[in-house]
Amino acid sequence: MTTYKEEIKKHIRDNYGNIALKGLPCCGSSCCCNNEQLESDSLDINDLSTELGYSVNDLSEVPSGANLGLGCGNPIAIAKLKEGETVLDLGSGGGFDCFLARQQVGENGFVIGVDMTVEMIELSRNNAEKAGYHNVEFRLGEIENLPVDDESVDVIISNCVVNLSVDKERVFDESFRVLKHGGRLSISDILATAQLPEHIKEDLAMYAGCVSGAEHTENIAAMLAKSGFSLIKLTPKDNSREILTSWAEGKDIENYVASYIIEAQKE
Ligand SMILES: C[S@@+](CC[C@H](N)C(=O)[O-])C[C@H]1O[C@@H](n2cnc3c(N)ncnc32)[C@H](O)[C@@H]1O
Repeated sequence: MTTYKEEIKKHIRDNYGNIALKGLPCCGSSCCCNNEQLESDSLDINDLSTELGYSVNDLSEVPSGANLGLGCGNPIAIAKLKEGETVLDLGSGGGFDCFLARQQVGENGFVIGVDMTVEMIELSRNNAEKAGYHNVEFRLGEIENLPVDDESVDVIISNCVVNLSVDKERVFDESFRVLKHGGRLSISDILATAQLPEHIKEDLAMYAGCVSGAEHTENIAAMLAKSGFSLIKLTPKDNSREILTSWAEGKDIENYVASYIIEAQKE
């Protein structure tokens, strides 16, 4: 018998598989739209991305088709990546943030993207191949069971993915396992700022749309601490309300969730 968690996961895979196959920019204002929203491509994806914190330069330097407009912030902007570092992207989608990271860590560094949706992995691998990149690799897998060695990564980035996980404690345990001592976490994600109403929590489309699975800020901080992280810092994005208002118009989601930057360290 399929459990509710398995049903959610299947819905997420189907949603992002379709997005990858269509190769279309996601919905109006960003993250994780459903198929209905996919049909509406009235807003320019570059405008959406600059609203999230990417520069015009960032947008021109990645292979076309890598930026699907699925993020809710810019984890690279706060990750302070250095030449030679190994970076892991949780839920790498079309590879957008991985391609920006690979430029910053250079040929002596390495970037690994992990995603559980086969079509996304194919898309990101195609994008890397097209561009002839050698310091980036995409692995099919779940962020709750990372296909990555212990203590092998300097920095973990992620953009609008952890909210989608049905087992966030496990995601942070796994992140702690693969980070080297001194390694850090720089994640952009949707967090809950108030108790979500039941009708939102139970809406599968809104789960895949990065809303219903959002965990409260206090719980996220507690989970990170329990996994062993220190220097935990959660910062709301200045323009979070504007970004979120357009995701699900009329549903008031901006009163329950917000876009945050999550930072933490493994000492
Ligand atoms: C909202 S999109 C973000 C993609 C990318 N980070 C970006 O900003 O363009 C979420 C991605 O995470 C992947 N994903 C969702 N849950 C996952 C999980 N538990 N394990 C691995 N990948 C997951 C989806 O397949 C999808 O590609």
